[in-house]
Amino acid sequence: MSVPSPLPPLPTIALSVAPMMDWTDSHCRVFHRLLAPHARLYTEMVHANAVIHGDRDRLLAMDPVEHPVALQLGGSEPQPLAQAARIGAERGFDEINLNCGCPSDRVQAGRFGACLMREPGLVAESVAAMIEAVSTLETPVPVTVKCRLGVDDDHRYEVFRDFVEQVAAAGCRMFVVHARNAWLKGLSPKENREVPPLRYDWAYALKRERPELAVIVNGGIATQEEATAHLEHADGAMLGRAAYHDPYLLHRLDVAWFGGELRSRGALLRALRPYVEGQLARGVFLKHITRHLLGLFHGERGGRAFRQVLSEGAHRPGADWSLVEAALAATEHKEQAAA
Ligand SMILES: Cc1cc2nc3c(=O)[nH]c(=O)nc-3n(C[C@H](O)[C@H](O)[C@H](O)COP(=O)(O)O)c2cc1C
Repeated sequence: MSVPSPLPPLPTIALSVAPMMDWTDSHCRVFHRLLAPHARLYTEMVHANAVIHGDRDRLLAMDPVEHPVALQLGGSEPQPLAQAARIGAERGFDEINLNCGCPSDRVQAGRFGACLMREPGLVAESVAAMIEAVSTLETPVPVTVKCRLGVDDDHRYEVFRDFVEQVAAAGCRMFVVHARNAWLKGLSPKENREVPPLRYDWAYALKRERPELAVIVNGGIATQEEATAHLEHADGAMLGRAAYHDPYLLHRLDVAWFGGELRSRGALLRALRPYVEGQLARGVFLKHITRHLLGLFHGERGGRAFRQVLSEGAHRPGADWSLVEAALAATEHKEQAAA
């Protein structure tokens, strides 16, 4: 039994936004933070070797407003993972999360991600090394794991529980459970987020059997009601695609669970202005930020016009905040036309 990793403060794990490659970059996380002041945010997965040898300023870019924010690492070698965990923690990430759920071919070739579900001993060893590497910091950060229920057609709860048992014995105290299997052959990563059936009851059973572990449910959570229902059985709900495509859902959840006043989409967007203008002044193109905002009026009158104005205009040279105002005006115009 290794040293147990500290648990993140409970209120900060009830609501979280999933790590999503190419989507949850720092601009996206700043936007999500504004919508959901209490949510826990996750980076895209970064391979441990990239953290060690790559362009850290780019790969580990993080704005101070993002806290609490977790760095998700990929990899399967204890020492590089430990080194990368330490670097991440020193850079100020509030949690280091190990990816044991990604099924892409590239990831399988590197023997990490979801195939690690088959190697609980190696995951335990990696987690123990990561915990040790961050344990000497002034404030050791939690080391957590994001996993699936299993791989391919192995649907034995005991195998899943054994994976968790071994990793927990190495000191990991929080598990984000994407509550479906990963099929390593024959399905694309996208299909692997849709086809294997969801079994939330396994995550709930884990929480019942090991109440001292924090268990976060992930996978297919699409509405406020669904997210809220998970809190009766687990410590938190992690939203991925729904949060990205309908980010106002995050705001509604944050207000419903933690209090505060529901703000309008327009007011929230305008609060992002100083950030956007600061980034433009540093040479960032508007399109790199606005691509994350497109879903803000999802399902609303004017939502299409909003998307259209932003996505057509953001590529033009010199595009600035006035484009965002024009997109907002387009939604207001549609509302008036309908009134
Ligand atoms: C575009 C995209 C990229 C993803 N990248 C990652 C990743 O880097 N690490 C990870 O653990 N999961 C990744 N996932 C999976 C999500 O974190 C999440 O587990 C999955 O989408 C199920 O949750 P949802 O139904 O709420 O979207 C990704 C999902 C999407 C849609």
